[in-house]
Amino acid sequence: MRLCINIDHIATLRNARGGNTPDPTEAARICERSGAHGIVVHLREDRRHIKDHDVRKLRETISTKLDLEMGASDEIIGIALEIVPDLITLVPEKRQELTTEGGLDVLGQKDRLRHVIEKFHSVNIPVSLFVDPMNAQINASREIEADMIEIHTGEYSESSEIGNSNRLLQEIARAAQFGKSIGLEVNAGHGLNYVNVIPVAAISSIDEMSIGHSIIARAAFVGLEQAVKEMLDLVK
Ligand code: PXP
Repeated sequence: MRLCINIDHIATLRNARGGNTPDPTEAARICERSGAHGIVVHLREDRRHIKDHDVRKLRETISTKLDLEMGASDEIIGIALEIVPDLITLVPEKRQELTTEGGLDVLGQKDRLRHVIEKFHSVNIPVSLFVDPMNAQINASREIEADMIEIHTGEYSESSEIGNSNRLLQEIARAAQFGKSIGLEVNAGHGLNYVNVIPVAAISSIDEMSIGHSIIARAAFVGLEQAVKEMLDLVK
C-alpha cells in the first residue's frame, strides 16, 4: 500500500498571513524523507490554497511522484499540460464547497472526460478519476481509458453509526475489487484519519491512499515527520 500526502493545507496556513511560510516545497521534502510515496496538490480554480508557482516548484523538487488534483477546466488543463505532473487526478469542483464533494459523474460526461484523458495520454501523463464506490462509474472510467480510479471514502469517513460505516466499508471493498478486476489501479481517499484508515488499509485491492487534512492537522502537534510516519505505520 502506497501513501500519497495531500499538502494543500500547508498552503492554507501559509496564505493565512500572505507570506512564504510554511513552504509547501519544504513540506513535500519532509513527507518524502519520512517515507511518503507521493505528494498530492489540488490546484483549484479559485487558488484558495495551492498556487501555480507551488506546482511549478514542486515539479522541480519532488523526487517521488507529483499527483496534480484538478477540475477538468480548460485553464487548469493548459497548466497541467505545461507542468506535466506524474499523475493527474480529475475531480468535480465547485467554487462554494469547503472540499471536494462527491465523485465525478463519469457516465454523464463520458465524451468530455475521454477527450481530456486523451490529451493527457498524448504527453504520457496517466489519469486517475475520483469516483464514488459505484460499479457503473468505475466501468465507465475503464471504458474511457482512465489508468486509475480513486474511490471516494468521504461518506464512510463521515459516518458515525457503526452499522452504516460497515456497510459503506463493504461498498468500498467491493468497488476496489471490481476496479482491479477490470484492469484499473485503485486509489482511495477523502476524510481518512488515524482511526478510520485502518479497515480501509486492510482492503487488499487498494494500491494507494491519498490523505491530507488529518496528517497536516496531526503535524501541528507532533511535527510533520512524526505525523507521516504514524500514518505510514497504519496503512502498511
Ligand atoms: N482525494 C481527493 C480526490 C480529494 O479531493 C482530497 C481533498 O483534497 C483528498 C483525497 C484528501 O482528503 P483529506 O484532506 O480529507 O484527507
